[in-house]
Amino acid sequence: MKIVACYSNKGGVGKTATAVNLAHAAAASGLRVLLCDLDPQGASGFYFRIKPSKKLKDESFFKDVKRFIDAIRGSDFDNLDVLPANMTFRDFDIFLSRMKNGRSRLKKALKAVNADYDVIVLDCPPNISALSENVFKAADRIVVPVIPTTLSERTFEQLLQFFADHRLNRRKLIAFFSMVQARKTLHQDTMARLRQLYAGQFLSAVIPFSTDIEKMGQHRAPVATFAGSRQAGQAYGALWQEVRARL
Ligand SMILES: Nc1ncnc2c1ncn2[C@@H]1O[C@H](COP(=O)(O)OP(=O)(O)O)[C@@H](O)[C@H]1O
Ligand SMILES: [Mg+2]
Repeated sequence: MKIVACYSNKGGVGKTATAVNLAHAAAASGLRVLLCDLDPQGASGFYFRIKPSKKLKDESFFKDVKRFIDAIRGSDFDNLDVLPANMTFRDFDIFLSRMKNGRSRLKKALKAVNADYDVIVLDCPPNISALSENVFKAADRIVVPVIPTTLSERTFEQLLQFFADHRLNRRKLIAFFSMVQARKTLHQDTMARLRQLYAGQFLSAVIPFSTDIEKMGQHRAPVATFAGSRQAGQAYGALWQEVRARL
């Protein structure tokens, strides 16, 4: 079982869109996939038309294997299950900072379903917190969407610095350019510069800024189901292929 986190310390960069579409692409390729929504806003569950779990609350996520497993729901797609979030997930940082071995609790919780899935995709909330330290430890790969603008670039640098300061394995981090507007010179220039600066860290697949991706909220479905042959649908397929090759 491999764990792929969709993570950024910045909000609104496309983490959830990535988690939903990568999970769908992986399941469509025949892998058994669990999409685990760690963000209390519960957007991943929403896109898959799954209601927030009620019973999996407070510390039970990290302590009660039965409740954890009971909270997993099937989706409309073969091989794809979802663990929906709820508002109590906002307190994860408090629980984790109180718990013994508070940095490896997520890894331990996910071990309970080790045999049932080939890939677990984590949709993460945007901060550097006790929960994200758990994510950094548990994940085999951390997929980071970076919008090619100044502020996003800065956030990516902060993340790299955090990894350096805490002696975390920087090779887990794989970035890609998200919400790319190819006609913008700023986007083109930033992408070229970052690819040079961080050689090998950025994937070649690029996710364009696309109304098809925005429309996921109306369709409440992954983009490949209603725009699979268009640019956005193809782009997530290519992104998954590259991530998979690095697992
Ligand atoms: N490539 C894209 N093109 C256009 N809109 C996008 C794209 N990716 C995400 N969005 C939209 O931007 C908003 C934030 O995306 P989301 O995936 O929820 O980000 P995050 O999880 O990082 O907060 C959502 O309204 C989503 O529909
Ligand atoms: Mg999100």
